[in-house]
Amino acid sequence: MDRIKITGGVKLKGLIPISGSKNASLPLMAACLLTEGTLKLSNMPHLMDITTMANLLIKHGAKMELDATSGSGASSGNIISLTADNINNLEAAYEIVRKMRASVLVLGPLLARFGKARVSLPGGCAIGTRPVDLHLKALEQMGAKIILEEGYVNASVKGKLKGANIHFDKVSVGATENILMAATLAEGTTTLTNAAREPEITDLANCLVKMGAKISGIGSDKLVIEGVKQLFGTEYSVMCDRIEAGSYMVAAAITDGEIELSGVDMSVMTATANKLEEAGVEIKELENGNIRVKRKGKTIKSVDVTTQPYPGFATDMQAQLMALMCIADGTSKINETIFENRFMHVSELSRMAANISIDGHIATVKGVKKLNGAELMATDLRASISLVIAGLAAEGESIINRVYHIDRGYERLEEKLSCVGAKIERVSE
Ligand code: UD1
Repeated sequence: MDRIKITGGVKLKGLIPISGSKNASLPLMAACLLTEGTLKLSNMPHLMDITTMANLLIKHGAKMELDATSGSGASSGNIISLTADNINNLEAAYEIVRKMRASVLVLGPLLARFGKARVSLPGGCAIGTRPVDLHLKALEQMGAKIILEEGYVNASVKGKLKGANIHFDKVSVGATENILMAATLAEGTTTLTNAAREPEITDLANCLVKMGAKISGIGSDKLVIEGVKQLFGTEYSVMCDRIEAGSYMVAAAITDGEIELSGVDMSVMTATANKLEEAGVEIKELENGNIRVKRKGKTIKSVDVTTQPYPGFATDMQAQLMALMCIADGTSKINETIFENRFMHVSELSRMAANISIDGHIATVKGVKKLNGAELMATDLRASISLVIAGLAAEGESIINRVYHIDRGYERLEEKLSCVGAKIERVSE
């Protein structure tokens, strides 16, 4: 199993190209199931989760063509063409779904187009129970019959799904995406209220519109979808990965470095940028469109943060901000409101001499002068990157085990960080 070795203490300096968004790519790929035309997606990141989704779609019978662009740089993303003109398997098996919860995003499209789907329940997950009840309830409201059997969701509908007024009890990114896709091919109008507003949903909605869907309210918490008879193939370029960008911003700040990021759309980064600026980080858009990140003064100030659905501070940035707060001046309170068990990085950061205590969903971080390198265990995707970030600033060597978590969501991590001076390497065993 691969490990990552980091010798900390180097101030990062240079340019990091930001990849296309993982969380936007996954639902966009699932959207290929809504049409027999070809969906050509560009700026796709090369990541484990993308491979998992591709394997799932291929198992359903979709055809995939990969046109990998070479080299590094902002436009190095892959181009993937997906054609679902011969879907011959409506089952998403446990062996794939267990690897990646976003697999459940095939449920809405399969049911909408073929009237039937069998999808494994994602099951337990490291960062919480993460049920799919909101997805299922909404599909039932649209006329689907849902039977849970042997760990699988068996969904069927007589004829077409029917438009419905659906109010989500809780803001859910995945449920909004699944039902949005399903509603594009339903009979009549579907209204989604308390919908998630994440930019990745806007990206999906914009692509669906290009495919022929009729959606209004894009970007708001009320989406109105007028069902159409069919959707068509199109070409679409995936938005930037705002979480990857935010992670590297924190890496620059924690090492007291100065980096530029290319390929970032700052309009989707407001909450992260505001919080980092409050902590004493300068984030400046340069004339060439790059984003320059460095500290304003000598030290980082402690800040409090509460994770919220978009446009609030993303739960996917919580662990990274916590790593930064470990070396800040003062005490910071971090309130995690989205997932019930998303503090697994705390015990690992503590092994690096961070001073953190947890009371329920609130972590109190007392800044220390320095972190020490240590051998660490990656537990989930964002927890893992927080350990890399901490390792970059720590004195001495850190070894991070179970890096497959990082490979799910950070493209060419060691290469990107090495290019800005980090002493980081992958050790294969
Ligand atoms: C997506 C993101 C993930 C991010 C999360 C929150 C992708 C591929 N993943 O995950 O990186 O951390 O949004 O921004 O885009 N919930 C229910 N019932 C449901 C669905 C969700 O109770 O049917 C709960 C979850 O347990 C969680 C909360 O709602 O507590 C938010 O989850 P959700 O927004 O659905 O997260 P994902 O779509 O899985």
